[in-house]
Amino acid sequence: MSEKAPLRVLFATPEVAPWVKTGGLGDVSAALPAALAEAGIEVRMLVPAYPALVAAFPGRIPLVQVERPGAELLPATISCVALQPRLELLLVECPAYYERHGGPYQDRSGRDWPDNALRFGLLSRLAALLASSETPLDWRPDVLHCNDWQTALAPAYLRYRHEAGAASVTTIHNLAFQGLFPMARIHALDLPVAAMTIEGVEFHGRISFLKAGLQHSDRLTTVSPTYAREICEPEHGFGLDGLLRHRRDRRSGDLVGILNGIDTRQWDPATDRSIAARYGARSLALKQLNRAALGERLGLALQADTPLLGMISRITRQKGADLVIDAAPELLARGARVVVLGSGDADLEARWRALAAAHPGRIAARIGFDEALAHLIEAGADLFLMPSRFEPCGLNQMYSLAYGTPPVVRATGGLADTVVDCTPRTLADGTANGFAFGPPTTEALLAAVDRAIEAWREPATWRRLQRNGMARDWGWGPAARQYADLYRSCLRAGQ
Ligand code: ADP
Ligand code: GLC
Repeated sequence: MSEKAPLRVLFATPEVAPWVKTGGLGDVSAALPAALAEAGIEVRMLVPAYPALVAAFPGRIPLVQVERPGAELLPATISCVALQPRLELLLVECPAYYERHGGPYQDRSGRDWPDNALRFGLLSRLAALLASSETPLDWRPDVLHCNDWQTALAPAYLRYRHEAGAASVTTIHNLAFQGLFPMARIHALDLPVAAMTIEGVEFHGRISFLKAGLQHSDRLTTVSPTYAREICEPEHGFGLDGLLRHRRDRRSGDLVGILNGIDTRQWDPATDRSIAARYGARSLALKQLNRAALGERLGLALQADTPLLGMISRITRQKGADLVIDAAPELLARGARVVVLGSGDADLEARWRALAAAHPGRIAARIGFDEALAHLIEAGADLFLMPSRFEPCGLNQMYSLAYGTPPVVRATGGLADTVVDCTPRTLADGTANGFAFGPPTTEALLAAVDRAIEAWREPATWRRLQRNGMARDWGWGPAARQYADLYRSCLRAGQ
């Protein structure tokens, strides 16, 4: 019997940790392709060659030069780096687009790069080319997997610019970011006028990269089952809920939610090199050493009988940063200490800074990005706060669960799929692992924190909560299997 050829997947993404990461998509792009490769799938990851990647891989091998990607899109070289068996990084080298000082999407002052349509148009254009029958490479994927708006124009290019190509899957990591650009850019992007219709890439008079992917991909996924349901409703649909319902309700069931995992090579308290004392479910007493180290590092006056609350996130309304800020006086009245790490909206950042200045020793605000401190907060805090208004999946609550730091979350999206509210029933059946609340209000948040503090004061209950969270395998194995099944199902459907 001949051995079946491995499935081949081109994974197109605008971020990959540790080199380029603005949020969870960077983590997912580092861990999911690796898990797929371990499961026997051949994966090539297509990413722009940002300065950090150029510096990290001086030995990368140039494979091909694409002289005319189309219209105003600049020429690029595709080079390659082997990362692990069956996993290669394909870098899109176009220094004029990608080698800039600043972030992947914005300049240093937080303004979007003015040519983002072309920068991510090129990434999408090349993803489609490599997934088509006209690919200049001798490796052709069975499936093109796009991630978020920055790559979501690729299925439209496959449709309008190529005769034949791979099956396509687009994953929505956050529907709030859609990649909207003036209609006039359509020519510069090398798309035909025919694409500028409601069945094409048009969205309220503009080009929507994300809508292009939702419209033209064979399958759509998002990063948790609950968020997959939520985005089909007007409240979380950002105007795309009608299209998403249509895709969900087709006979092939084109929209599915697959819960993210966490990278257990990076996030495991038993092996974590960034924390003060490593520990596991049977040595939770050692967690105290991390608490003490965190308190010392941040100058917090910790007390044995009041908890330390941690928060790591983009400081935005999506993440409920304002709810925590508004709740801060009440949290302090309960004797709690608070540490927040993050960056985001300038006005919310300023409010955190002001709170920290007004309450030294009791509130610590670190504005910025600090990977090592994030690990120490997960290990050292008693409770983790994540009161997001919406949350496609969320990784930090899973890190918290894996670190024995029960999270207090709003029951939405991936938070609802991972955190089991502590009640007499869930404690009895061994599923309770945190605290969840409903309305996005300060009162509801405080009520949940009060329940959490009460449980924290009962050591036996607390240990059970911590161990329930730590017992589950939060790794990528289950998600990788679901993606592999999905890839196979779209190939079977002959798309
Ligand atoms: P999102 O992608 O919506 O921002 P996620 O929870 O999926 O939210 O992922 C956020 C990721 O970014 C996590 O890995 C988290 O630890 C990390 N992160 C966010 N802010 C910071 C920060 N200021 N410093 C270090 N890591 C951060
Ligand atoms: C987005 C979402 C977040 C999710 C991440 C990775 O940034 O906001 O909830 O965990 O993508 O999928």
